[in-house]
Amino acid sequence: MNESILENEKTWDAVADQFVEASALPVWGPFGVGDDLNLIPEIEGKTFLEIGCGSGRSIKYLADRGAKKIYGLDISSVQLKEAEGFNKEIIDQGKVELIKGKMEDKLEIEPVDVIFSVYAIGWTPDPVMTLKNMYSYLKPGGTFVWSWDHTLFTDVQYEDEKFVVTYAYHDEKPLAIKNWKKEGVTAHITYRKTSTWFQLLKDAGFDVVGYHEPKPKNLSRGFDDPKKYYSIQKAEKVPATFIFVCKKNI
Ligand SMILES: C[S@@+](CC[C@H](N)C(=O)[O-])C[C@H]1O[C@@H](n2cnc3c(N)ncnc32)[C@H](O)[C@@H]1O
Repeated sequence: MNESILENEKTWDAVADQFVEASALPVWGPFGVGDDLNLIPEIEGKTFLEIGCGSGRSIKYLADRGAKKIYGLDISSVQLKEAEGFNKEIIDQGKVELIKGKMEDKLEIEPVDVIFSVYAIGWTPDPVMTLKNMYSYLKPGGTFVWSWDHTLFTDVQYEDEKFVVTYAYHDEKPLAIKNWKKEGVTAHITYRKTSTWFQLLKDAGFDVVGYHEPKPKNLSRGFDDPKKYYSIQKAEKVPATFIFVCKKNI
């Protein structure tokens, strides 16, 4: 398992430049979804942890709206360098702390009001440990909101001018995808069923208080090609993104 995380770290360093401003607040996915759902209703004076903060755009969004403190965790030093440059002023003011590390390892941080993540939690090969960590970082009554590729979206591809199911929804074995986004890099990933995520969240102690499968909104980013992974035509048929809203109710 550690080897797959280590290889993913190298992969994210190699492809980081393709993900600058990729999916950041106020939207929760590649088709501009979620900004109308008001998933983080209170920002001012609150403390946050972002998992897989990438290029740090969501951090700036929260700081501009009065967040008291934001921790940003990411495995990739290249992503963090971009986040650091982008947020230099608020880092110097002590409002933001960037942490290089794995979501599977326990952090030493003050408990936060909100943990959020846009398209990163699903990278974990160890969701039990990752979600246990998330639960431990939250204050009682705190919120954990996160989005990820909907598995149905991943399972469906465009072939012979039709969308067809090319991967079994029930198949949850770990995959090593060669040449992911770039020649010579490998991505280790597991496609998990939505019901699996519900169970994992429940087992970690969370109450799931919201679950969203939004329709695509943003049609502008070159997705108008059914052969592309993020194709608007596919996203209109099956949800591209799911978003979980969870509470630590103790
Ligand atoms: C799709 S990007 C998220 C982009 C981010 N929302 C943004 O606005 O830039 C996924 C991020 O998760 C990070 N990541 C992947 N596996 C990780 C792990 N095991 N622990 C921590 N971060 C991880 C990657 O380095 C990458 O920056």
